[in-house]
Amino acid sequence: MFEGKDYIEPEDLDKLQELMERVGESEERIEKILKVAAADPETYNDLMEVYSRKASQVATKDEFYPYEELVGEIEIGEDPEGRKLAVTREQLNEHLLAVSMTGKGKTTFFYNLIDTLKEKGLPFMIFDFKNDYRHLIKKHEDLLILNWRDIRFNPLKPPPEVSPGKWGEILADTFCHATDLLIGSESYFLEKLNELYEIYDVNKTEKYPSVFELKDLVEKDPIPPASPRFKYRERNQSRLSMFTGFSGDIFDCSSGIDLEKLLERNVVFELKEPNQYVTNFFVETVLTWIYYYRDAMGERQKLRHVIMFDEAKRVFDVMRERQPEAGWPPVDDIVGKVREFGEALAVADHEPSKLTDSIKANTTVKIWMSLGSGKDIEEMARTFGLEEEEEIDYTRTMEKGNALLKIADMEPVPIFLPDYQIEKDMTESEIREKMRQEIQKFEWEERYRPEEFLERIGREKEEEEWKISEDAEKLLVHIKDNPLLKTSERYEKLGFDTKKGGSAKKELVEESLIREVEVRTGTRGRNPKLFELTKEGRNYLKAIGEEVREHVKGGAEHLWWQKKIQSHYGERGYDSFIEHYIGRKSIDVYSVKEDEEIATEIALTPEHELENIKKCLERDFDLIQIVYNSEKVKEKIKEEIEGERGEMPEEILFSHVSEFT
Ligand SMILES: Nc1ncnc2c1ncn2[C@@H]1O[C@H](COP(=O)(O)OP(=O)(O)O)[C@@H](O)[C@H]1O
Ligand SMILES: [Mg+2]
Repeated sequence: MFEGKDYIEPEDLDKLQELMERVGESEERIEKILKVAAADPETYNDLMEVYSRKASQVATKDEFYPYEELVGEIEIGEDPEGRKLAVTREQLNEHLLAVSMTGKGKTTFFYNLIDTLKEKGLPFMIFDFKNDYRHLIKKHEDLLILNWRDIRFNPLKPPPEVSPGKWGEILADTFCHATDLLIGSESYFLEKLNELYEIYDVNKTEKYPSVFELKDLVEKDPIPPASPRFKYRERNQSRLSMFTGFSGDIFDCSSGIDLEKLLERNVVFELKEPNQYVTNFFVETVLTWIYYYRDAMGERQKLRHVIMFDEAKRVFDVMRERQPEAGWPPVDDIVGKVREFGEALAVADHEPSKLTDSIKANTTVKIWMSLGSGKDIEEMARTFGLEEEEEIDYTRTMEKGNALLKIADMEPVPIFLPDYQIEKDMTESEIREKMRQEIQKFEWEERYRPEEFLERIGREKEEEEWKISEDAEKLLVHIKDNPLLKTSERYEKLGFDTKKGGSAKKELVEESLIREVEVRTGTRGRNPKLFELTKEGRNYLKAIGEEVREHVKGGAEHLWWQKKIQSHYGERGYDSFIEHYIGRKSIDVYSVKEDEEIATEIALTPEHELENIKKCLERDFDLIQIVYNSEKVKEKIKEEIEGERGEMPEEILFSHVSEFT
């Protein structure tokens, strides 16, 4: 630090001049200031203090910063002079955080990081919520891209060498945090899980039940509504049916694909479509699994594997950390501990202010690319220890490729990050096709229900109470599996003649297990007729051990149009999906082609449509299409939107159902 002078010598003035030059003062101004400074030691001292401080700030962004400390093995960019900047394996092992607003380079940074990890032979696992990483297959042939439609994973099965008793407790905690359940529900979950483990005698048989069996067990738990436990059962049941009822089979197995082996490969889990609860639960259980697996193996060691989260807020959401009544989220705990086993986390997000404190505090390498919102900038300034407005201002001017890098307690330094050249044109069907052979090599086991279990959930008893003919039962199952088939085709497939089919149908209708619905096509000619399961029909199927999807939105008519719209877009080169989730709400049909995203909502009644449409408007779709079959419904929805928005947003398009027949 500068020590004050009592009188001034020429060298002193030289020093002040040098500092002023370093911060870029004009010659004219330097001359003026030197004159003032020469006249009075006190003024000189003040000026020296001001300029020393300014110069040291400049220095942090300039050649005086000791870049030579940044010479590890994992290259990430260059300094302003074009020298390589790299972090060490140890630093990466202490986790990495990269932030920028959308479109400013997070994914690109990860692409480059992946290249480096591959060079170094470090395997990695990516949780991809946006289908961004499948394109890398062109460059890295060994990548294993696992789309959620092809993943099998049984969260109820503990990692090798971890006892079911211990795993049960961990899982109960993870489950309840991932699904926003509180402690009472957690105890209930654990109690039922242990009961199930006992029924399956898992310690001996090594055959594990799945969330499907857990759900059935919970459902059959006879608790009177007046009991305080009743609500715990209800909550658990509703959460569990989200995992059994969503349109995927991830959890539909007794034993999933071998995670142990996946840890040695380069894996991308594609998780764009499933709803938030499913994604959270999957990601958090896998992470927990890895930690307890490593722990059980006692494999403390240096960096050996990197887990990457692009759009990490999905998992490290501060809102969840700040619910004290729910206790500390288990993933938080793992972030701090998993590094001991050589697991590094690399995390990217566009809203750092919404990330957990744990992830911000537990990342040694931090990269700050251009941010938009003041709140996020403030948050990062705090995390980076920047106090001076000028330094923070620097980050506001950063272009794509410019960033600030901070490692541990060192001062932040500017860094230039490279771009990445890759065509992003790999579609879902292409990638799944490409991976098919690889995926087939993975073994997994079907779900399994021992007698003890069936007895416990009382299958036999229920079966006796319901008495319908064998033909009627066959027809019922067929309707569940093929809801959109024409009656004549259905009978043919079942090998029924008209008479046999007719009487089976009559039986089902009379028992209120199905009802007949007409698809209103709005065009001339006969409308197609469909069979639809009633609630009783669904219960019947469940009772005979059939899998029935929960949460079906709308009935058969709704589904009919969903399929029509899906194939309409499919024929036009879109990837098109039914029940596509945005957060916790689903869109009827979601179609995407390159950058164009279309959300289609089917409005057969005017009720409840507005909320879905509002959700779509928030998400910036290129087109929000509302498909209606009556003018009345259309007008009603129009009125509602205009009432809410003042005018009709231009991305909204109304289409009559007849466009899809
Ligand atoms: N370091 C960089 N230099 C130049 N262009 C970049 C750089 N990083 C990203 N870009 C470009 O910006 C666009 C968006 O980048 P991306 O990584 O997808 O952003 P994010 O993941 O933050 O939304 C891409 O077209 C990419 O090529
Ligand atoms: Mg991105």
